Amino acid sequence: MNSISVKLPNHSYPVVWENNLSQFKDIIRERADNSGNFIITNEKIYGIYKPVIEQIFGNSPILTIKDGEKYKNFKTIVHLSEQLLSLGANRNSLLWAFGGGVVGDMTGFLASIFMRGISYCQIPTTLLSMVDSSVGGKTGVNIENGKNMIGTFYQPSGVYIHVNFLKTLDLREFKCGMSEIIKSALLDDLDLFQLMENNLADLRPDNEIIMEQLSMKSVKVKSRIVMEDEKEAGLRAILNLGHTLAHALESNYNYRFVKHGEAVSIGTTFASFLSMEKGFITNDEFRRICNIFHKLRMNSLWDSLPRKKPDVNTLVNFMKGDKKNSSQKIKFVLLNGIGKYKLPSEIEDEFIINALEKYKCLKK
Ligand SMILES: NC(=O)c1ccc[n+]([C@@H]2O[C@H](COP(=O)([O-])OP(=O)(O)OC[C@H]3O[C@@H](n4cnc5c(N)ncnc54)[C@H](O)[C@@H]3O)[C@@H](O)[C@H]2O)c1
Ligand SMILES: [Zn+2]
Repeated sequence: MNSISVKLPNHSYPVVWENNLSQFKDIIRERADNSGNFIITNEKIYGIYKPVIEQIFGNSPILTIKDGEKYKNFKTIVHLSEQLLSLGANRNSLLWAFGGGVVGDMTGFLASIFMRGISYCQIPTTLLSMVDSSVGGKTGVNIENGKNMIGTFYQPSGVYIHVNFLKTLDLREFKCGMSEIIKSALLDDLDLFQLMENNLADLRPDNEIIMEQLSMKSVKVKSRIVMEDEKEAGLRAILNLGHTLAHALESNYNYRFVKHGEAVSIGTTFASFLSMEKGFITNDEFRRICNIFHKLRMNSLWDSLPRKKPDVNTLVNFMKGDKKNSSQKIKFVLLNGIGKYKLPSEIEDEFIINALEKYKCLKK
């Protein structure tokens, strides 16, 4: 077992890694002891992991939601709340999110408002949720005209990671998680970047040793940042490296055809390109960044975008509408070398447009 502690002013919690399934089950059983446990998962994950969930939680109620981002909404929250009440949940109950970021974000949100707040733990089952969404306490749901627009900061009581769950994950989802790991490495961990560079052939979902190392290092980057700025008053915004363009791409395609992590691969490559254009990273560093995406067969260049390709001005307008941009100027998190971030800064539209035009022509 490995673990780290996320230490926050009002609440600290462990993030635990255990690759041996039987020991993993024991760790969770111990944590779940003496609590009224309620497990929240989705139909797909339950279909795969029913025996594991039942071995861990015995007769505790299991609430399954439908699979998909489109069910991350208030209707599901209301339905879950009603189920919890009728199953006898109370202020001392403990919710367990068993699933990816959708299940985790909704379970956290529900825990934050059910009876004015009860505890919850995370058992993330996608790579993205293991390295990103399960740690940091951002919870939420989508509304018709805004993704994650309704939510809370509400930290879990524990996060329990078993990387072997990745063996059943679609490759496309796996790559989405990898793109957030690459983001974290570029921001604040040169060692993690080099670990990836040196083990490119081994970066596979079934390689539990390397996946545990990558997710631990990546969670360490995120938790360091969250510990300094829990509620995104400043520093935490650097976690948006690659997300300025990514969000614009997702909006442009109406959240279809391009997954978040795929948009982040493109956005991160573009932010690196901007950093090179500004002279903050060298051509060689940019080449190394492109190489990682390329070797992992992750699409990070313009060519890989689905048809019809976005119009540069449309993207710029979407970036101006981003909720993270308080002024009309577009802010980008840039790099100051591999493994070193620069705080978000405003960049002139002209500069961005020119850079996007050049980036569009980049070839593998
Ligand atoms: N709270 C945060 O800080 C934060 C950060 C990033 C993303 N998010 C949120 O996370 C969500 C995306 O999370 P995600 O990428 O995990 O997507 P997801 O939860 O939709 O999971 C992706 C797919 O994989 C399936 N799946 C999950 N685990 C599996 C497994 N072990 N084997 C096989 N299939 C499995 C799911 O059922 C789903 O079909 C978004 O809603 C996003 O807004 C939150
Ligand atoms: Zn992201």
